[in-house]
Amino acid sequence: MQTELDRCRQLVQTCFKGVLAPLGQSPVELGVQYALTGGKRLRALLVLESAALHDIESAQSVWSAAAIEAMHAYSLVHDDLPCMDDDDLRRGQPTVHKKWNEATAVLVGDALQTLSFELLSRVETSSSSQIRVDLIASLARASGAQGMVLGQAQDIAAETALTPLDLTAITELQANKTGALIEWSATAGAILGGGDPLPLARYARALGLAFQIQDDILDVIGDSGKTGKAVGKDQDAGKATFVSLLGLEAAQKRAASLVDEACEAIGPYGNRAETLRATARFVISRET
Ligand code: IPE
Ligand code: IPE
Ligand code: MG
Ligand code: MG
Ligand code: MG
Repeated sequence: MQTELDRCRQLVQTCFKGVLAPLGQSPVELGVQYALTGGKRLRALLVLESAALHDIESAQSVWSAAAIEAMHAYSLVHDDLPCMDDDDLRRGQPTVHKKWNEATAVLVGDALQTLSFELLSRVETSSSSQIRVDLIASLARASGAQGMVLGQAQDIAAETALTPLDLTAITELQANKTGALIEWSATAGAILGGGDPLPLARYARALGLAFQIQDDILDVIGDSGKTGKAVGKDQDAGKATFVSLLGLEAAQKRAASLVDEACEAIGPYGNRAETLRATARFVISRET
């Protein structure tokens, strides 16, 4: 699994290197490059692997992989702002608003979001303009007011809710907050290759939830030296999480059974989906 992640990181980094080469030294330009550094590149790997299942080479799918990582990076820069989670550390480094200032962080997020769509519009993404439009439209939906942005709004609202959210509400919130971009990543390969996205969508829904349960688990038992962020924040804020609702052990069990569900969903691909299965297992064993 580490090998696949390392290879993916390398491919994405090389792609970004070329894309970012024309950028200058202004705070926004530096901030964009800074925010695109590091991370597990899990969403990129989902793009590359789902594309490989549809016989799309990584030299092509890396453009969609870079696009989702740019979108994800934007969501993190804004998520860390004082008006949102007010975090000082991201990926073990000062957050963009700490290193520069809040206005720069807002603009860096804006620029990363537009970069994401620009990458998808490039001919390197697909020689078919219809496929490029499909990728752009589906990413716009996944990240917008009925997707990730809605999830972020639901998460903020949950902080001041009079009664803590129940399991159904948390599951819906997380499906939007983190699930939507993960689902886009895992189905991008089917869009690129003109295949049926359904098995990958089912895989991604289970995986996205397992991912978020692990995020909540790491918020409680994680080592901040490894996670690169403050630990216990959601708990301290009195937010309902999978761990606070289910308890640690039941949350771990639920995550494990979601991983089984994810692996079953991609049964139709047989052995070719082994890396996607390993990725699902990685999601709940990760320490960062
Ligand atoms: C962190 O995502 C934010 C959430 C959506 C919970 P990742 O854990 O994938 O972050 P990086 O990209 O590896 O830093
Ligand atoms: C971040 O969720 C989700 C998005 C940016 C869409 P969290 O706020 O739970 O993630 P961390 O814990 O800061 O990485
Ligand atoms: Mg948040
Ligand atoms: Mg946060
Ligand atoms: Mg979290």
